[in-house]
Amino acid sequence: MLSRSTLNIRACPRPASLMAGETEILGESLPFDERIELPGWSSRKVDVEAYRRSHSSSIKDSSTQWERMAQELQWMRPWNEVTAKGSHPHVFKWFPGGAINLSQLALDRHVEGTRRNKVALIWEGEALGADGAPAEVRKFTYYELWREVNRFAFLLKNNFGMKKGDRMAVYLPMVPEAIVVLLAAARLGVTFTVVFSGFSAEALASRINDLGAKLLVTADGLNRRGKQVDLKEIADKALEETRTVTQVIVVRRTGSKETNMKAARDYWFDDLMRGVPTSARVEPEPLESEHPLYVLYTSGTTGKPKGMIHDNGGYAVLLHATMRWVFDLKDSDVYWCPADIGWVTGHSYVAFGPLIEGATMVVYEGTLDFPQPDRWWQVIERYGVSVFYTTPTATRMQMRFGEDFVRKHDRGSLRLIHSVGEPINPSAWRWLFEVVGEKRCPVGSTWWMTETGGIMISHLPGLMLLPMKPGTNGMPIPGVDADIVDEKGEPVKHGEKGFLVIKNQWPGMPGAPTGMWGDPERYAKQYYERFASKGYFFCGDYAVKDRDGYIWVAGRADEVLKVAGHRIGTFELESSIVSHKAASEAAVVAIPDPIKGEVPIAFVVLKQGFAPSDDLRREIRTWVRTNFSAIAEPSQVYFVNKLPKTRSGKIMRRVVKAVAEGRPLGDVATLEDEASVGEVKQAYESLKVT
Ligand code: WTA
Repeated sequence: MLSRSTLNIRACPRPASLMAGETEILGESLPFDERIELPGWSSRKVDVEAYRRSHSSSIKDSSTQWERMAQELQWMRPWNEVTAKGSHPHVFKWFPGGAINLSQLALDRHVEGTRRNKVALIWEGEALGADGAPAEVRKFTYYELWREVNRFAFLLKNNFGMKKGDRMAVYLPMVPEAIVVLLAAARLGVTFTVVFSGFSAEALASRINDLGAKLLVTADGLNRRGKQVDLKEIADKALEETRTVTQVIVVRRTGSKETNMKAARDYWFDDLMRGVPTSARVEPEPLESEHPLYVLYTSGTTGKPKGMIHDNGGYAVLLHATMRWVFDLKDSDVYWCPADIGWVTGHSYVAFGPLIEGATMVVYEGTLDFPQPDRWWQVIERYGVSVFYTTPTATRMQMRFGEDFVRKHDRGSLRLIHSVGEPINPSAWRWLFEVVGEKRCPVGSTWWMTETGGIMISHLPGLMLLPMKPGTNGMPIPGVDADIVDEKGEPVKHGEKGFLVIKNQWPGMPGAPTGMWGDPERYAKQYYERFASKGYFFCGDYAVKDRDGYIWVAGRADEVLKVAGHRIGTFELESSIVSHKAASEAAVVAIPDPIKGEVPIAFVVLKQGFAPSDDLRREIRTWVRTNFSAIAEPSQVYFVNKLPKTRSGKIMRRVVKAVAEGRPLGDVATLEDEASVGEVKQAYESLKVT
């Protein structure tokens, strides 16, 4: 029996103009009319109207703008045109004719210039020594990083025969070698896919198989909260299910126990590197601008994860533009984004963006509260972090730990804060602004997604300062025509909920040859079918635009879950549940969570011969944890006799969600596809009493 109290859902007040249930940010109403400015802003302050004007001229001729940004980078061969149609619908080539290399942009041009001996990377391991100082800190200047990347690229090329067009997979924790590996692959034009080190063997195997990766780089293990996870064991399991990987390079990280190394397949990274002289050089390959740099798999609503392709030229231009406009990066800055390289933020704003800009960047291996809740603030104090890119979930966790952990550390170096990954509720924004940034730093919430490659909607302190509003994403960046539309693709009125779309093309968008690896039809269908007559890119998010034109993204409009900012597909999670011997069917929905934004809960129909019990509930949760990922573990499992389905067999997810949240059916009834209002109501009532 389900009831509001058993599910412990908070009542969420909603702004009257918004449709119930989906547009509040964790139950906090959106302060559309609040405007926060700082006293020191006067010289760079721009009024909203002026930005709107300059933005509309930027989208009338975005090519000129992107070309100007491209000219600021180093190309190995100039482009013929800014953009051209690719060979599949909705796939574009950016800067065709041009040749470029991101490893050269991130390393060689700095090594040849004045940043040669500047610190590029400060890496801190998770363990603390007896004196409370980090047990391991490794620093690399641009020269040193360049040298390591050259040596590893040399190995890949000469010992492993990897060349442009080959594919490799990376399954690594946040160690400096991860950055070296990605930059070396980029140097050779080897298209890589990074698989988050918290994902299971199944997830790793399916990505390797889809991409046809020949080589895997992994580690013996990883450190997490003082414990060690045996990564190689998981990788070995994945390799049993793959056909293409013939060689494995293993970074020695934990050394905690005997690692199974298969002869003539597995090699230790450090053993190999010892054989490569420091003088080893590999010239960066001149890569066609549209050559695929990487494929990153992300969750959709149906089917297996989608491999989004990002190219070299357009992607580099978007990273360069957004690093400058959004992060305002100066040579004197110390930049820190704690994202993992397994997610797109770790690609764009850890591995590539900051290094392309010649920044000094911090990478920290561990969790934010290990061994104490002030670990992040220690890191900020230790290295004098000035530009900080965090997440709403991390912020809410730290709010719960309390201000004292923050206040006891010097944050005088901080000058700019942004967040990413999920909507930020106004009170979390205020905490970042008031407590962390001491009301000195602009605080923003940058909206973008794996597909967009880089930031699309954001405050732009590097360009100009607009009044801040707690929880908003701000305006679309120059050259990006983002809007909020109704079902028919018509712009909605201010304050009304609608779908977020991008109306034009942008560099960094899913790239040639197919947008989605191996599946151009699915790419076109997934993103362009919804508003086919208009040609808009459908992002899958709900959003609202206020009177000033600020956008407030409120959450997903589809069935993608955002757990602690991590994107999880309902289909993958349901598949993981039904692979358990007792489960015959499963439906997963997200419910609001005060820390993680949302968490999955599962409704499970059991197979004949299995009876509901708390043990089974626990078993299913553990099953997901070990066979899919810890971040996807359902917070609750409910056993039901049947799932509400439409005549064609589609789960009526909104019904499940309404029941889970203890909400009345209300507007849900008219929203389910393919089902009559009567059927939906009946399904709702029967699920409620199961
Ligand atoms: C959500 C992460 C509100 C959104 C970079 C999007 C956000 C999805 C924000 C993409 C933000 C990301 N405010 N929502 N600042 N940033 N999102 O692919 O739902 O992991 O569609 O990329 O995260 O998630 P992804």
